[in-house]
Amino acid sequence: MFDLVHAELSHVRRKLEHAREARACSLFQGDAVAMPLPDAAFDHVVSFFLFHELPPAHKRRVFAECLRVLKPGGTFMYGEFHRPETWLGRFWANFVFTVFEPFAREMWTWDPLRELDPEQWTTRRERLLGGYFQVTFVQRRAA
Ligand SMILES: C[S@@+](CC[C@H](N)C(=O)[O-])C[C@H]1O[C@@H](n2cnc3c(N)ncnc32)[C@H](O)[C@@H]1O
Repeated sequence: MFDLVHAELSHVRRKLEHAREARACSLFQGDAVAMPLPDAAFDHVVSFFLFHELPPAHKRRVFAECLRVLKPGGTFMYGEFHRPETWLGRFWANFVFTVFEPFAREMWTWDPLRELDPEQWTTRRERLLGGYFQVTFVQRRAA
């Protein structure tokens, strides 16, 4: 896990304390835009609610970094906002984003899956709670 803020990492460490998988998780403090990690190093990469915080160019760079560090056969999963299905949902979310989250509305139109080569990646997206949220999976095809 990457986060700029030390307190966020401590929070995760506490949550993982009793989890069987904890030893397999790597936590790093730093900027996810440029991860000081080798290519193809991880079986799984997970991101929760980071992309909507980032300006457009950084969204793309972090996405590319998450894929770069995946091993063949590995999966990147991200949980994020998405475009609500109803006009009322979009009206409300638009208001909230305008006030609090200036880069979040791009999550309605930015779809990094469209830019991936299907010969190298398989993808799947689940939309939840009336389209407000997405859980998206990208798997690097095994070599
Ligand atoms: C909405 S919070 C989500 C925190 C946590 N992932 C969760 O789901 O509870 C967004 C987090 O992204 C972190 N963040 C923002 N820009 C970042 C960057 N360039 N690299 C790494 N972390 C970043 C912030 O420090 C913040 O903790």
